[in-house]
This record gives sequence, structure tokens and C-alpha cells, in this order.
Amino acid sequence: MAKFKVFITRRIPQEGIDLLETVADVEINPEDAPLPRPLLLEKAAECDAMIGVLTDRINGEFFDAAKNLKGYANYAVGYDNIDVNEATRRQIPVSNTPGVLTTATAECAWALLFSVARRVVETDHIMRSDKWTGWGPLQFIGGDIKGKTLGIVGAGRIGTEMALMSRGFDMPVLYTSSSGRTNGALEAELNAELVSFEELLKRSDFISLHAPLTPTTKHMFDESAFSLMKKTAYLINTARGPVINEADLVQALQSGEIAGAGLDVYENEPAMAPGLAELDNVVILPHIGSATKSSRTNMATMAARNIIAMLKGETPETCLNP
Ligand code: DGY
Repeated sequence: MAKFKVFITRRIPQEGIDLLETVADVEINPEDAPLPRPLLLEKAAECDAMIGVLTDRINGEFFDAAKNLKGYANYAVGYDNIDVNEATRRQIPVSNTPGVLTTATAECAWALLFSVARRVVETDHIMRSDKWTGWGPLQFIGGDIKGKTLGIVGAGRIGTEMALMSRGFDMPVLYTSSSGRTNGALEAELNAELVSFEELLKRSDFISLHAPLTPTTKHMFDESAFSLMKKTAYLINTARGPVINEADLVQALQSGEIAGAGLDVYENEPAMAPGLAELDNVVILPHIGSATKSSRTNMATMAARNIIAMLKGETPETCLNP
């Protein structure tokens, strides 16, 4: 009997590929780069199922090309690259990888928070360029962390984990909720307070962004949001770049409207807004939130299990279709 054909748009950890090979012939984009659109559409036409990444646009045009597609698995928890309604209309299951990268991404948000508040990257550069002249009482003063107010925008899995990790630092926690529902874990464990976006902006010393990218959250952080933040506050983003208007952020960082930012994601990856990389009060990472061995491996095996279920006509473990 002919085996199913599965195409993977970027090389993923071998554990996921091994699992898929038990049921399918697997082809992988050999380049360590996003698949050009015409090639993605060509491969979509040839395969029974596909694993793709956040740079692949899975929309009506893709589904038009994908005549035999029995399912698509995103190698990411975020799925703003997929038109889920279009998939559902065509009865094609689509999935993501929630849960397995929660800790890694929250840890990355903390790494950014510490780095920007304590000027870790800026001062590392000074050491490496041999510009340090010796200890001084007024040198490189950063922001305090313990006891400061942490604002979580989007208290889902990762936002909740980020907040729970603040326990050792006695930080009052504020959070927003798009559904208006309270977060039991945060309220019970941290006495966290559900507040409006505006109140969170005004009261937080650190704001960590964990909301998905949707038409509502796009450019949620713009000039008017920055103007409500404390001048001493820091913004951390490990979610999706377009939730921040990056040009407005550069302006806010240049003018001192906010103290600093720690970013893992950008509006037009891999590009950054002009001026961002020249600023000392920003720490910039290349979208590595989930980049730990266990997270990336578990993402691969989860995506593979989802594809196997789809090929069997079963509902995948982490199905996105309603
Ligand atoms: C995700 O999973 O959405 C991250 O951005 C990449 O792992």
C-alpha cells in the first residue's frame, strides 16, 4: 500500500521526523530558510499532510493548491499565520503546539526582564570593547526588580507561568483578560488583580506581553499606550511583534517616555524598525522564546502525533478547528 506523503517546511528535531516515518514518507525542505511561496504551494499540492512554521502563510491560496491535504500542523503555539476559518470551511484539521513551550518562553521573558533592567547586554558590550574604566558609584544604574509591580497582558498559559515565576521577587501582579474572566491560579497563588488595560499601563513597573496576535491586539502598544506607562517602566515582548507598533516604540525609547524594552519578536521579522538596534535601553533577541532542547523536541513530537491522527481521520490532540 502506498505510504502517505508528509512535507515539513523546515528541519525540525529528529524525534518528530522518526515518529512520522512510521506512517509516512517524509520530505523536508533542505534549506535552513523559509520555503519560497511558489515552492510551498507546489509541495502543498503533492502531499497528504504538512508541518509548517510561523513564517508559512496557511490561507485560502494555500488550501486551493493543497488538493489532497488531510491536515496541517503548525510547529508553534501561535497560529496567526493560519486562516483557521478557511481550514474549517474546507474541513481540513489544523493544529498547534500548546503547553510544551510554556516554561521556555516564560523563562525567556524573565531573561529579557533582568537583562534590560540591569543593563546586562549594554554593559557586556562595554566590557568587550575595553571601555570600562573601573568601578564607579554612579555607573550603569538600572531598575529595581524585587517588590516592583508586574503587569501581565494576556494571562493565558505563558502569561500565567511568567507571573507565577515572580514568586521569589514579591512582585504585586496585575493582569488583563480579553474574556474578562479571572485567572484562578494567579488570584489564589499571587493575589493578582484583574485590571483594565489602561490601569495596567499606568500602574506597572514591568509589563510582559503574552497576548496572541489578532486584529484586536495588533498595535495594542502604540504611542497612546506608551504615554500612559510610567517613565521608569519596562516592556517585555515574547509574544508576537505586531502587537507593538515598533516605530512608536523606538520613539518612546528614544525620548525616555519608557525606561526600556526587552524584545524577542518584531513587527516584520527578521527586520527591525529603523533606530531600534542603535538604542542601549533595549535588549533584542532573535525569536528564541521556545528554543530549548526539550521544548523544540516536544514541539516536533506533538506536531508529528497531530499529523498521524489527521492522516487516520482522527481529531488531533491540539486541534484548532472549533
Ligand atoms: C510559537 O510557538 O508561537 C513561537 O513563537 C515559536 O516557537
